[in-house]
Amino acid sequence: MIDPSRKVQELREAIRHHNCRYYVLDDPEITDAEYDALMRELIALEEAHPELSDENSPSRRVGGEAASGFEPVFHEIPMLSLDNVFDEGSLRSFDARVRRGTGLDQVEYVAEPKIDGLGISLSYRDRKLVVGATRGDGERGENVTANLRTIRAIPLVLPADAPSSITVRGEVYMRKPDFARLNAEREENGEPMFANPRNAAAGSLRQFDPKVTASRRLDAFFYYVPMAVDLIDTHWGALQLIRSLGFQVNKEISVCRGIDDVLRFRDRIAEARNTLPYEIDGIVVKLNRLDLQRELGFTSHSPRWATAYKYPAVQAQTIVRDVVIQVGRTGVLTPTAVFEPVSVGGVTVSRASLHNEDYVRAKDVRIGDAVLIQRAGDVIPEVVRVLLEKRTGEEREFVMPLTCPECGADVVREAGEAATRCVNISCPARIREGMIHFASRDAMDIDGLGPSGVERLLACGLMSDVADIYSLAVDQLAKVERMGRKSAENLASAIQASKANPLYRLVFALGIRHVGVNTAKLLASHFRSMDALEGAAYEDLLAIPMVGDVVASSVVSFFSSDQNRATIGRLAAAGVRMRDEDEQTRSRADSFDGKVFVFTGSLSRLTRQQAEAAAESLGGRVSSSVSRKTDYVVAGDDAGSKLARARELGLAIMSEQDYLKMLEDAGAIPADGGE
Ligand code: IVH
Repeated sequence: MIDPSRKVQELREAIRHHNCRYYVLDDPEITDAEYDALMRELIALEEAHPELSDENSPSRRVGGEAASGFEPVFHEIPMLSLDNVFDEGSLRSFDARVRRGTGLDQVEYVAEPKIDGLGISLSYRDRKLVVGATRGDGERGENVTANLRTIRAIPLVLPADAPSSITVRGEVYMRKPDFARLNAEREENGEPMFANPRNAAAGSLRQFDPKVTASRRLDAFFYYVPMAVDLIDTHWGALQLIRSLGFQVNKEISVCRGIDDVLRFRDRIAEARNTLPYEIDGIVVKLNRLDLQRELGFTSHSPRWATAYKYPAVQAQTIVRDVVIQVGRTGVLTPTAVFEPVSVGGVTVSRASLHNEDYVRAKDVRIGDAVLIQRAGDVIPEVVRVLLEKRTGEEREFVMPLTCPECGADVVREAGEAATRCVNISCPARIREGMIHFASRDAMDIDGLGPSGVERLLACGLMSDVADIYSLAVDQLAKVERMGRKSAENLASAIQASKANPLYRLVFALGIRHVGVNTAKLLASHFRSMDALEGAAYEDLLAIPMVGDVVASSVVSFFSSDQNRATIGRLAAAGVRMRDEDEQTRSRADSFDGKVFVFTGSLSRLTRQQAEAAAESLGGRVSSSVSRKTDYVVAGDDAGSKLARARELGLAIMSEQDYLKMLEDAGAIPADGGE
């Protein structure tokens, strides 16, 4: 028989270790589900053996240690955690305890999605944000005010009718599309990638330089007002109140009458989970009446009036059939695992990026291994771990090739970098990926020139660098495999239209290392022309706020190449726009220019025709169906499946009010002086 005292000790140590990995290092080694299982095992053992109880056991604590580097903040009202339940029976027991405690037959709950981010607390004095802090260990967090101030969802000043002092709690998170973009940029740049949006949010919030946080596009939801009982009767009322003060409150929240209603909410949200543009790991159930909340009170680590129900992790087992190499546009060689296809939460997964050589070593993934995989961020599959117990000895280790599998040139791995790169700037894979990037949506946005289009054009020998795109004739295009006359004409006009793109698109499209779309916008609005950017010295670049040494060096090195300058010269000769007009017309045109709008649901202030005509008159396009190409979805009342599809794709969704504001900003309608 195992010695319970030793087992308890082991579990406590393991949990402390994983707490540190998760809360302090933002680099967990095990999944949340595995962590929860360890915690449950510990709690069960401690309950069975009360003589082993210890007030310093991790089961008694709410989080990890505060990281050094930020000033500590003592939470006047401790930031407690929530009890977790994992099945219907435990949720019903929670309800039974609440009903017993309140003496009521049925109680009203507020059910909310459980956002997978980072808990924060904001304190306002004289209606101004004075301190923003992370949870830390629940009593002492880190002062991250400067970083939080960069998040747009966080009001810095409250309206005049707000209470002068208030504390509001919520969750900082990263939206799935922002996470995907950040990781793609990091992968290209050979930087370590974040395992999931939660880690990306944590890593971005705990930056010593707020500029870095600002560049990461974090978001926040607010879900708890500790002293609301002084202001209002219900939690629902408190959420509506803070919403009216400018805090972002989740739209999916719902009042539930009784636990059966909560279970229906759980199922509905589980179904919508993949379509939400942010990551959730369950739901949170809170007693609605604040007087009853006060009656039930708190245990040492969580409120008795609330609980979290966690969804099962979306994981599956499969076999690694092969590890293949993909070469990206900057020549980075990315090892990619090819699996025996397997369904993970309803989606078939057959590949996952293994990022780089170190990652493969750290996870010790071998060809032939049985692995546990999961869809992190709901969309990107990842290897959680190798099932070592299933090893037969037949597995083969992956070896990074010494030459590029696409062109045979040497590959190098520079000191301090995780990435291995092909040195040949004319490597066909680099040219192909560079062209795909050039034509992609955030870059020159050439419709019809996706990955397969580029491959077919390259195969016909019609292009050798991006400038060749602009000398393609309709007749040539029409002869390309699987391209009819009509598509050739469409492609030719999309190419033609892209010449008039704003400058930042071209700057981004060139694929300068470390220059993502946001940096491209910054550079374009600072220099206003390609000539000025090309002539900029390292010091000129460094003087721009938010541009650091890495970007500045990379831009200088890009323009020092004769080949790059020649390509830009040819693009200019083809008539591609190389400068932006004056500020006024640029910012006005930019928000609509070439953007695809979909209107859905019923609008109240504009007719559908007026709304569509306004977008078109400002250079926008209107479409009737939602797809990845859609830029904005304007959703009126009772919007249905199109709105759901837009959420699924993580598109920008606007209310009619937002759209009117956008028209106002573009000068299309007079500013609304009333109301
Ligand atoms: S309420 C006293 N509501 O989950 C009640 N928490 O596992 C305070 N979380 O520490 C928390 N979504 O960081 C609440 N809708 C939600 C939430 C939520 C995510 C986080 C929060 C909390 C953790 C507990």
